[in-house]
Amino acid sequence: MRLVLLGAPGSGKGTQAQRLQARSGVPQVSTGDLLREAVAAGTELGRAAKAVMDAGQLVDDRTMLGIIRERLARPDARRGFILDGFPRTIVQADGLARLLDEIGQPVDAVVLFEVEPVVLERRLAGRRTCRRCGRVFHVESNPPRAGEPCADGRPHDLFQRPDDDEETVRKRLSVYRERTQPLIDYYSAKGLLRRIDADGSLDDVDARLDAAIGS
Ligand code: AP5
Repeated sequence: MRLVLLGAPGSGKGTQAQRLQARSGVPQVSTGDLLREAVAAGTELGRAAKAVMDAGQLVDDRTMLGIIRERLARPDARRGFILDGFPRTIVQADGLARLLDEIGQPVDAVVLFEVEPVVLERRLAGRRTCRRCGRVFHVESNPPRAGEPCADGRPHDLFQRPDDDEETVRKRLSVYRERTQPLIDYYSAKGLLRRIDADGSLDDVDARLDAAIGS
């Protein structure tokens, strides 16, 4: 299974990638998570990326293509991959196509998560992530279940992403419209695009995703 999950910030790509990884064993490859790890580790990449992410802008294409090349070379990606948050520009999509051509692993499908803007804003405002296990929750629609601890037995250590404040969310949504939405036509023209209604319960969206990818 080699998938690209496409959609606006808050459309549920990360949540569904984690759930699909759990039921299929195919790894989620989230460029947002890879960048946040670099920020937390204080690497040169992390220091450069932090200012860009906090401003709601995109990290440059060359850097992102380097990150993806390195990530897809790891052994777990031989089983396939669920790309979450990549590609985000036409240049990244062209670079990805060249890379996958080189390694003989073309994308099977690109799934577009469709959600109304008002729902996106509500989701991002209530999103919380566990600092230790990385699971994504929502204070109203998807809180940690009582008695369901983090992997190490302690309660989840939830935090709010710094780029989920109202102003940065507005910026990210506008960057999505300008830079990433053109990928809808790009992948549609290649016959790879599948659209799903990503509003509804997590289980409903799971089922629509499975139907779209034929699993
Ligand atoms: P990234 O981390 O990729 O952020 P994003 O694409 O903006 O997407 P989000 O993580 O905000 O949303 P999501 O669709 O994953 O939604 P989620 O599942 O969390 O990127 C962050 C930054 O890194 C970028 O702004 C950029 O600076 C940089 N970057 C990353 N990749 C890059 C690239 N390729 N090129 C350049 N720069 C890059 O869900 C949101 C909330 O909704 C959660 O609380 C969840 O619990 C809830 N929820 C999900 N589904 C449902 C449902 N069905 N019903 C109710 N609630 C739901």
